Amino acid sequence: MGRLESRPYIDNLMDHLAKWNEPAIRVLMMPRDTNAHGTIFGGVILSYIDQAGAIEARRQGLQFMVTVSMDKVVFHEPVFVGDLVSFWTETLRIGTTSITTKVIVEAIRGGHPEKKVVVTEAHVVYVNIGEDRKPRPIERHANAYT
Ligand SMILES: CC(C)(COP(=O)(O)OP(=O)(O)OC[C@H]1O[C@@H](n2cnc3c(N)ncnc32)[C@H](O)[C@@H]1OP(=O)(O)O)[C@@H](O)C(=O)NCCC(=O)NCCS
Repeated sequence: MGRLESRPYIDNLMDHLAKWNEPAIRVLMMPRDTNAHGTIFGGVILSYIDQAGAIEARRQGLQFMVTVSMDKVVFHEPVFVGDLVSFWTETLRIGTTSITTKVIVEAIRGGHPEKKVVVTEAHVVYVNIGEDRKPRPIERHANAYT
């Protein structure tokens, strides 16, 4: 039995992300992304998480935004060179000027296309800003991908 099979919370994570048919980002991990142990550096994953959450915010109609917080970041499993890594997203909350997104990171291990592993999750909050870089109320556009 694999380690994740005994962790139902992680097994159920992907059930929440059925809204979009495709991940915000999909990337193949390269040797340049490794840490001193030879696995993928957590900061690389965090950078992609930040981008993926921003793409989710764009899907909801935001155009100009800044990241105000990254929260509940959990690295469940390591990521390896050669893993095909997908960043799935959902919107948890749209406030007056901010949007809270959830990003789930799923890896397909190199050479094992049948094996998908949830490796990381995080909540990321973005604030919609105006040209003055101050918070600006979010307008829901008809052409947002909702
Ligand atoms: C984001 C920023 C514009 C917010 O300015 P601010 O004057 O503190 O904004 P406010 O207090 O009016 O809050 C604006 C929204 O952000 C939310 N917010 C503020 N701080 C937050 C935090 N630490 N965590 C979660 N949400 C937060 C507020 O709840 C509010 O949301 P709402 O309007 O939906 O209710 C400002 O802090 C900033 O420019 N930060 C730097 C952002 C940046 O450069 N990011 C990239 C880092 S490299």
